[in-house]
Amino acid sequence: MDGKLKGKVAVITGAGSGMGRAASILFAQEGAKVVAVDYVGETAEETVRMIKKKGGEAVAVKADVSHWEDVNKAVETAVQQYGKLDIMVNNAGVFDSFKFCLDTDEALWERIININLKGVFFGCKRAIQQFLSQGNGGVIVNTASVAGLGAMAGGTAYTASKHGVVGLTKQIACEYATQGIRVNAVCPGGIATGMTKDLMSDPQTDQMIKMTTPMGRWGEPEEIADAMLFLASDDSKYITGETLRVDGGWRAK
Ligand SMILES: NC(=O)c1ccc[n+]([C@@H]2O[C@H](COP(=O)([O-])OP(=O)(O)OC[C@H]3O[C@@H](n4cnc5c(N)ncnc54)[C@H](O)[C@@H]3O)[C@@H](O)[C@H]2O)c1
Repeated sequence: MDGKLKGKVAVITGAGSGMGRAASILFAQEGAKVVAVDYVGETAEETVRMIKKKGGEAVAVKADVSHWEDVNKAVETAVQQYGKLDIMVNNAGVFDSFKFCLDTDEALWERIININLKGVFFGCKRAIQQFLSQGNGGVIVNTASVAGLGAMAGGTAYTASKHGVVGLTKQIACEYATQGIRVNAVCPGGIATGMTKDLMSDPQTDQMIKMTTPMGRWGEPEEIADAMLFLASDDSKYITGETLRVDGGWRAK
């Protein structure tokens, strides 16, 4: 397929739902061969079916981003099936339901940090190994959040994990910039996905999100996918270490 990612190979995590699915479909439409990764294997396979129905190319991998061997399997699949890796989208994540510090037990803390922060670290590290071995750079897009830019858009563990993703993105971007590797993050606001469907169906929370968002509505996963495409394509070739808010103005206030 022709498009902004023609000839590129992308691994996208959390591809079975929400923004990861939207990005997988968009990237494939823009010409990328996509490795759709999710720890719920059937949902990743469904994303692949959706891509193929539109004439794109993709393969599903069941993998948990908080396990190094699984992240390795995802990148190895890209190399074995499509010969290389050009783009890594570290998007998989889980929410802590706005739990305050005293309501955050060790198990919740570990789950959120392991998936949202360690998973992104593993994804960055494995992708960079691959990019360096190929010798012609590469692109990483991490999904942070407006909760990575300030307080009260998540609970304690979620906010800490997303601030971690923002810091990791900046640090790694600087470490590998001279090797042609770009690393950026998107910071979504309230987006209508599987993660937020319970929040959206609670009238009070739904109203609160709409009132605190200057645009007055939830975002759509496709609107985040558009920003990911920008950061993954040559349209952003002089941008690295950046965090791009896609939040209907939420953090502009
Ligand atoms: N929805 C929002 O309002 C919002 C706002 C800001 C940031 N985010 C972030 O966006 C990203 C995508 O979330 P979404 O809203 O599309 O949610 P979603 O629940 O619709 O999709 C997340 C996907 O990630 C998968 N996943 C979770 N843990 C995984 C793991 N350990 N390994 C592999 N896959 C795993 C899930 O199975 C799911 O398919 C997350 O990092 C989330 O924190 C979401």
